[in-house]
Amino acid sequence: MCNLYNGLLTVSYSQAVAAQLSLYLNTLATKNLLIPLLLSSTPPRVKRNPIQMAIVHLLLRFLLIFIFSCKPILCCPYDQKQALLQFKSILFRESLANSSSDDANLYGLESWNSSSDCCLWDRVICNSHSHSQPVISLDLSSLVPLMALETSVTSEVLKPLFHIRSLMILDISSNFIQGEILSDGLANFTKLVHLDMRENNFNSSIPSHLFHLTSLQFLDLSSNSFEGELSSEVGSLQNLNTLKLDENLLYGEIPAEIGNLTHLRQLTLRQNKFSGGIPSAVLNLKELEVLDLQNNSLSMEIPARIGELSNLSTLALSRNRLVGGIPSTIQKLRNLETLKLDYNLLSGLIPPRLFNIKRLKYLDLGGNNLTWNNSVKVTPKFMLSSLSLRSCQLAGNIPDWLATQKNLDFLDLSENELEGTFPQWLSEMDVGNIILSDNKLEGSLPPRLFQSQNLSVLALSRNNFSGELPENIGDATEIMILMLGNNRFTGSVPESITKIYRLLLLDLSCNKLSGSSFPIFPDFLLSYIDLSSNEFTGEVPVTFGQQTRILALGQNKFSGHLPKNLTELTQLEHLDLHSNNITGELPESLSQISTLQVLNLRNNSITGSIPETLSNLSNLHILDLSSNNLVGSIPSKFGNLTGMIEPPNTYSTISDVFTFSIEFHNLIVNWKKSVQGLSSHNLDIYSFLDLSRNNLSDKIPESIGELKSLKSLNFSYNQLTGMIPKSLGELQSTETLDLSHNKLFGEIPSSFAKLQQLTTLDLSNNKLEGPIPVGGQMDTMDDPNYYANNSGLCGMQIKVPCPLPDHAKSPENSQQGESEEEIWFVLEGAALGFPVGLVSTIAVIYASGYFSRPPPRHHRRYRSRHRG
Ligand SMILES: *[C@@H]1O[C@H](CO)[C@@H](O)[C@H](O)[C@H]1NC(C)=O
Ligand SMILES: *[C@@H]1O[C@H](CO)[C@@H](O)[C@H](O)[C@H]1NC(C)=O
Ligand SMILES: *[C@@H]1O[C@H](CO)[C@@H](O)[C@H](O)[C@H]1NC(C)=O
Ligand SMILES: *[C@@H]1O[C@H](CO)[C@@H](O)[C@H](O)[C@H]1NC(C)=O
Ligand SMILES: *[C@@H]1O[C@H](CO)[C@@H](O)[C@H](O)[C@H]1NC(C)=O
Ligand SMILES: *[C@@H]1O[C@H](CO)[C@@H](O)[C@H](O)[C@H]1NC(C)=O
Ligand SMILES: *[C@@H]1O[C@H](CO)[C@@H](O)[C@H](O)[C@H]1NC(C)=O
Ligand SMILES: *[C@@H]1O[C@H](CO)[C@@H](O)[C@H](O)[C@H]1NC(C)=O
Ligand SMILES: *[C@@H]1O[C@H](CO)[C@@H](O)[C@H](O)[C@H]1NC(C)=O
Ligand SMILES: *[C@@H]1O[C@H](CO)[C@@H](O)[C@H](O)[C@H]1NC(C)=O
Ligand SMILES: *[C@@H]1O[C@H](CO)[C@@H](O)[C@H](O)[C@H]1NC(C)=O
Repeated sequence: MCNLYNGLLTVSYSQAVAAQLSLYLNTLATKNLLIPLLLSSTPPRVKRNPIQMAIVHLLLRFLLIFIFSCKPILCCPYDQKQALLQFKSILFRESLANSSSDDANLYGLESWNSSSDCCLWDRVICNSHSHSQPVISLDLSSLVPLMALETSVTSEVLKPLFHIRSLMILDISSNFIQGEILSDGLANFTKLVHLDMRENNFNSSIPSHLFHLTSLQFLDLSSNSFEGELSSEVGSLQNLNTLKLDENLLYGEIPAEIGNLTHLRQLTLRQNKFSGGIPSAVLNLKELEVLDLQNNSLSMEIPARIGELSNLSTLALSRNRLVGGIPSTIQKLRNLETLKLDYNLLSGLIPPRLFNIKRLKYLDLGGNNLTWNNSVKVTPKFMLSSLSLRSCQLAGNIPDWLATQKNLDFLDLSENELEGTFPQWLSEMDVGNIILSDNKLEGSLPPRLFQSQNLSVLALSRNNFSGELPENIGDATEIMILMLGNNRFTGSVPESITKIYRLLLLDLSCNKLSGSSFPIFPDFLLSYIDLSSNEFTGEVPVTFGQQTRILALGQNKFSGHLPKNLTELTQLEHLDLHSNNITGELPESLSQISTLQVLNLRNNSITGSIPETLSNLSNLHILDLSSNNLVGSIPSKFGNLTGMIEPPNTYSTISDVFTFSIEFHNLIVNWKKSVQGLSSHNLDIYSFLDLSRNNLSDKIPESIGELKSLKSLNFSYNQLTGMIPKSLGELQSTETLDLSHNKLFGEIPSSFAKLQQLTTLDLSNNKLEGPIPVGGQMDTMDDPNYYANNSGLCGMQIKVPCPLPDHAKSPENSQQGESEEEIWFVLEGAALGFPVGLVSTIAVIYASGYFSRPPPRHHRRYRSRHRG
């Protein structure tokens, strides 16, 4: 009965226009959610809601002016105008005051000045039919320009707005405002119908006054840091002690008061920190059309009565920790268009009756522990745009009912047991995103697949596909992500691949591809390239564009010198050429690639000495030059390698572009005596310096002790001489230290007792002598192999008693000698190891994650700003 926009339009002459407007606003409310969902599955085409808001505003204004054109000139209330000007000046001060640029301005607030009527300002709409012309709508989304990215606006800025009691629509999204919202700040907004606060950094709990705004129809608080309320149990007085003791309880639930907002049609709380169960109060919201709680930490079961929310068109609960089965009542939601339950802990059978929901377009169930009953034949009544059945135990061929889904744009069937070939019918369907990784598919790829101008993601890694890559691969010019790793493809890479101008990531690793000249890519977007473990020959290709960030060419048969024009790859972060046959010296010019974080040249035939200019690479935190023919000394300037001194804070852009865990190119390293894959995520965390198996001579520079964040130092199998510098005891993060197979002499510095993280130590095959230091982790370093083949080491670790120093031989000290032996024993018992582990991750692609998570903020922001 109570149309929410009545306040605005009751006196309107034209009921028809009013109804239309109201309808438009209502559909907008729905679309606001749907559109990001829809668009996020095609990353390049992301559009922004503010544009819609702008359209609505224009429309509103137009209608109002049109309908009420007989009214005198608009004139907004003085106090509201002052409030708005104050808002503008605070925002300007907090974001742009220090900007050097002259034309620094807030987007769309140019017209806000004290000499004009605020009802005529951009982004402001007044109610022109009311006598006082109050402001009813403010579109304040994305106000802060790109150049102010680094500054942070605080929630203070909202204070003036809280005075505008007449507001019905407030959109303050995408301004990255930080801090808590005043608890009573929203109390004045009793007329509010539409509140959009997404993409800020509001923290603490949702202000309780929000739950008094019972007119609200649209509420979007997504992408903030809201925590829930304490559950009432925890909050009650008798539990105060528990509360103090266990801070984890502070992660709270979605407040049950949400059930008071009975007119809500859209509730979007995604990407916050809510935990606990989905409150049953949500079931009071009978008018709800969109319920989006994705990306929180919600647990427990999905309320069984969820099917009572009969108007639901979107139920999006992805990326939480929900357990139990899919409630059977969901089948009753006849208006359901979007059902996203992926990446939870759901289990049980996927109800085949979901296939009877006619309007369903997005069905994402992957990444749970759900099971598909392979014996059931389904005849879907829906026409899907998006389907994820990742890890749902699908077996047999790719199900042929998919052929009926003519609108399919996103298909993720990865991590199943699918067999057979890539079906011709699927290649003809023009699906935009095809993710079939981790199955048992075989045969060659149908050329028809690449005639598609829709294909933007093709991920087929870890199957048994074979044959040559189709010649026409480059016809699919819209591909952004092409992952064909770990198959059995042979032949050369078709020249046409360089026509794919959208290509961002290319993974052809672990195949049998060959060829001596790699196609020359024009300078487009290509940034992530993994061709490792193939049979490529010839010179190291530097035929990729300037955007290259990761270049992984390890385990091929590339030969010749390191190319000079590597330095032209000015964005290069990660260069891996291990296990090729690269000869010649390390060029000084490498030090010009200042972005370099990871340099792996292990197992080649590089000669000459290590240029000390490498120490200029301040981002370098993994350097592996092992198994080459390097001579000379270790540059003492290495002590300046900033990336190994401070904990790496350079996070690889791979995690920037793909916020999900994409396992792209695992680096192979020596770690704790074995060769391990270091996943691309962990790369950011670790610092390694491996110069083993060369012919390096001279002393170990004292300055190496500066490298405080090194996790692993390996200088083994060289000709290093001199004493071990005391400073190595300062390597406080080091877990593995290998100086074996050198010519080091003297004593092991007692400072080694300070190596608190040490778990693997190898000092064997040197000329060391004297007592092995005791204390700290040294007491646990008791593998005799660590000390073998030296010139007289002693200590409890190897059960060789050290000769007592002369003064200790006096009778009064003999007692002490005994008790020392007892201590040895005790310590040995305690020496069960201190596993400080490196997780070596099995390669898994979470490709569908590209789509269910929004791109990282800066990128989105950048994009949206660039549209404006
Ligand atoms: C502007 O610069 C001043 C002085 O350098 C500093 O105190 C203030 O925090 C800066 N403001 C912003 C928004 O960066
Ligand atoms: C204030 O804004 C109006 C347009 O809204 C513009 O015509 C006028 O020139 C502006 N005045 C000043 C002083 O900037
Ligand atoms: C919220 O953020 C502000 C500013 O970043 C900070 O001072 C405050 O402690 C935070 N509050 C909570 C509850 O995290
Ligand atoms: C609510 O509005 C009144 C004036 O309209 C103002 O005095 C009061 O401070 C406002 N409340 C808040 C929390 O800003
Ligand atoms: C909100 O709901 C709670 C119960 O969840 C109820 O006690 C309270 O009276 C309601 N408040 C309003 C303002 O309706
Ligand atoms: C569901 O939507 C229909 C059509 O918009 C509307 O008539 C009906 O009242 C809604 N039902 C509820 C429970 O709000
Ligand atoms: C997945 O579900 C099956 C039963 O369907 C169960 O046996 C298994 O333990 C579950 N796995 C996990 C990781 O929860
Ligand atoms: C490096 O040189 C080769 C051959 O001289 C050329 O094909 C390639 O495009 C160059 N790469 C860059 C990044 O300039
Ligand atoms: C070193 O590289 C060669 C190829 O150049 C490869 O055959 C060999 O397995 C590699 N050795 C190690 C230990 O990786
Ligand atoms: C690199 O380091 C050398 C000395 O190691 C220094 O002379 C030179 O100026 C540095 N170059 C740059 C570009 O920082
Ligand atoms: C150090 O490098 C050598 C040779 O490359 C390797 O055999 C050894 O396992 C490495 N040491 C550790 C602790 O990983």
